[in-house]
Amino acid sequence: MIIAIDGPAASGKGTVAKRIAVHYGLRHLDTGALYRAVARDTLAQGGELADSSAAAAAASRLDVATLDDPVLRTAGLGEAASVVARHPEVRAVLLAYQREFVRIPPGAVIDGRDIGTVICPNADVKLFVTATPEERAHRRFLELQAAGAAIAEAEVLADIRDRDQRDMTRTTAPLRQAEDAALLDTTNLDIDAAFRAAIDLVEAAM
Ligand code: C5P
Repeated sequence: MIIAIDGPAASGKGTVAKRIAVHYGLRHLDTGALYRAVARDTLAQGGELADSSAAAAAASRLDVATLDDPVLRTAGLGEAASVVARHPEVRAVLLAYQREFVRIPPGAVIDGRDIGTVICPNADVKLFVTATPEERAHRRFLELQAAGAAIAEAEVLADIRDRDQRDMTRTTAPLRQAEDAALLDTTNLDIDAAFRAAIDLVEAAM
């Protein structure tokens, strides 16, 4: 059983994916963490994010035991991840890991930007989770504020728009809804309502 979930930053896809995995007893892979870790390691190894060979070398050496490193969740690494994610060489290395992960029984819920389109085109269920940029920026702003960051909501919105733009316009595996993915708009849903709506869509697709 493979459930593929795609969507832009702060759409709620990660939280929904985690809860769906628990609900069905499946494994969960947050593929954004892979790109964030590659960005972290490229910088730690003294490389430039825009240098595809430095980033691909970091991807080849990636230690997946480090994917729960809290530093990966910082806004700076989200931006940095979207820079290394543009390199086809990086995506090719990470594709192999993702395909192996989902093959292991009993299957997985896997979330990202290109899961339904490139990584798992034959997934049993595909969801595309989204919300307006304003709502996504507001959620991210509240999270950052709770974590004590001094940042204006307008700045968070500008970052979200930048990242959407970079993810949707890149040549390799851009963010887009797969033709056979069900759309879940979480703009007016809290996380419990989003989870229930997602389960309804999964059940309808199974
Ligand atoms: O989902 P998250 O915000 O952690 O993703 C960080 C960045 O990694 C995204 O903005 C995107 O550029 C990249 N990414 C990707 N393909 C995926 C997952 C994430 O290109 N499957």
